[in-house]
Amino acid sequence: MTHYKELGLVNSKELFQKAVKGGYAIPAFNFNNLEQLQAIIGACVETKSPVLLQVSSGARKYANQTLLKYLAKGAVDYAKELGYAIPIVLHLDHGDTLELCKSCVESGFSSVMIDGSHHPYDKNVEVTRQVVEYAHKHDVSVEGELGVLAGIEDEVSSAVTHYTKPEEVEDFVKKTGVDSLAISIGTSHGANKFKPEQCTRTAEGILVPPPLRFDILEEVEKRIPGFPIVLHGASSVPPELVRIINSNGGKLKDAVGIPEEQLRRAAASAVCKINIDSDGRLAMTAAIRKAFVDNPAEFDPRKYLGPARDQLKELYKHKIVNVLGSANRA
Ligand code: G3H
Ligand code: 13P
Ligand code: ZN
Repeated sequence: MTHYKELGLVNSKELFQKAVKGGYAIPAFNFNNLEQLQAIIGACVETKSPVLLQVSSGARKYANQTLLKYLAKGAVDYAKELGYAIPIVLHLDHGDTLELCKSCVESGFSSVMIDGSHHPYDKNVEVTRQVVEYAHKHDVSVEGELGVLAGIEDEVSSAVTHYTKPEEVEDFVKKTGVDSLAISIGTSHGANKFKPEQCTRTAEGILVPPPLRFDILEEVEKRIPGFPIVLHGASSVPPELVRIINSNGGKLKDAVGIPEEQLRRAAASAVCKINIDSDGRLAMTAAIRKAFVDNPAEFDPRKYLGPARDQLKELYKHKIVNVLGSANRA
């Protein structure tokens, strides 16, 4: 057993309380490799933002849990070396079983998500409560989820959105003891969050999605005042990145995300953690595709992963400063 404190990590409890009171959200950026980690830590140190390093089941399989643990430990020292010891949480994204959550707690994670949202309500309560019971013994924070987001939620996928029912949240939080709650108000995972027929189109041909259900968020806030809320599926899918990808051989069609002004509004509410993965994927892919087209004779991976890392870092800084409001909160 490695406890997260041995790695220099923190859990999310205090960070979330401060974020709810301060009217900002902490970034939860997914990572699978060294370049993503360098970009995240570089961006968060430069902006003095706390951060959740988010690891999915897919990331564990891709990168290996032991390596990820030491990368997170390395991130703590790397931040200090860059000049500012930001608080770093190592978080399991969309954990689907008690066993997986236990394994992560035992290998140094300071926060886990148990996503029982695809289960019937009572089963979701049961599995979430079991995870909380185990995790809290080790001072590890737990995120639960009520309501289902459309798109891929790890290995579980849903074609349609099931909005969170505000009348369930109080009971869920009380029965499970979770520290934060992910809700479904119209965001979804991936780069195609809405079908074109759900959107309107601007004169320039840009798709404008329907607004998030802030009425549900407000109702949730009324029922559990000050309780930390989490927003998944919060990538904005910047049209400029999609354009660079497609003009360098990519084939992304009808990609559309959540407008930044809606995320700013969410960040100012009880939403204290905002999950962003797809925008990072787009930033890296845009830079790599461009580097391949611009320098076809180049075959040193550092020559295309380097620009990808730089573009990623700029994207993260933009999110922190202009969308989430978490700069200078570390
Ligand atoms: O919610 C899903 C995250 O974007 C992680 O995606 O399971 O492909 O690593 P992944
Ligand atoms: P995006 O696909 O919108 O980046 O959402 C990521 C996410 O919610 C990870 O849990
Ligand atoms: Zn998610």
